[in-house]
Amino acid sequence: MARDFVIHTPEEISAIKIAAQAAAFVREQLISIAAPGMSTKELDDIAGNLIASRGGKSAFLGYRGYPGQTCISLNDKVVHGIGSLEEIMREGDVVSIDIGVNIAGAIGDTAKSFVLGAPAPGILMLLEKTEEALMAGISAALKGNYIRNISAEIEKTARKAGLGIVREYVGHGCGTMLHEPPEIPNFVTNNRGPMLNPGMVLAIEPMLNLGTHKVYTEPDNWTVRTLDRKVSAHFEHTVLITDNQPEILTWLKT
Ligand code: MF3
Ligand code: CO
Ligand code: CO
Repeated sequence: MARDFVIHTPEEISAIKIAAQAAAFVREQLISIAAPGMSTKELDDIAGNLIASRGGKSAFLGYRGYPGQTCISLNDKVVHGIGSLEEIMREGDVVSIDIGVNIAGAIGDTAKSFVLGAPAPGILMLLEKTEEALMAGISAALKGNYIRNISAEIEKTARKAGLGIVREYVGHGCGTMLHEPPEIPNFVTNNRGPMLNPGMVLAIEPMLNLGTHKVYTEPDNWTVRTLDRKVSAHFEHTVLITDNQPEILTWLKT
């Protein structure tokens, strides 16, 4: 059987921590810089400069031909939005940014959704519950548990909130490649997946929708949108499995 998970060496883990902190730094910088009137291309260019300032390169640029430094997905865009000069951010927009940083062959992957200006109540609920789903999933990322325990916590949180769970895109192992085994669905499947062991590094990333779970891909072959055009949110952390509590590597240390 093909290898279904990766245990990283202590040396790899040290390097992954550096890449993950860089990704977290870029994430928080972009959130503070994003403003109404700015194009998503401008924000993506800034991201490229910030990644370079940490001695890294984008883990997304060129991945299967992806043309951006980051993914910036507004409102009903779920994931893989490509920064564009024609796309101007407006007050009230929900901005989902996804950042992958490669430093010396080690990778950190993180995403966050936020609102420009004051969020409407429904939007606030979507953002809070999607982040809560991520944290619930992380709380199950314990040695001896299975991938399915993470999926179950995310699904439970999403269902309680009545949110649509995107099925086509999933979390993943991460570390020396952007996407490593195993897959981490945001809902329970008939596959419990591998048992969690110290040294595994997982990118856990619920994508939840205010309406239907159904999505489609635009003719650019990247941009994913909700079928009903309702808003979507995406939160992602790169997490290390340890002997004790999971360590959130993309939690920005000050
Ligand atoms: N959204 C993906 C993830 O977090 C990565 C995007 S790959 C790209 O795993 F090519 F679209 F950038
Ligand atoms: Co990501
Ligand atoms: Co990811």
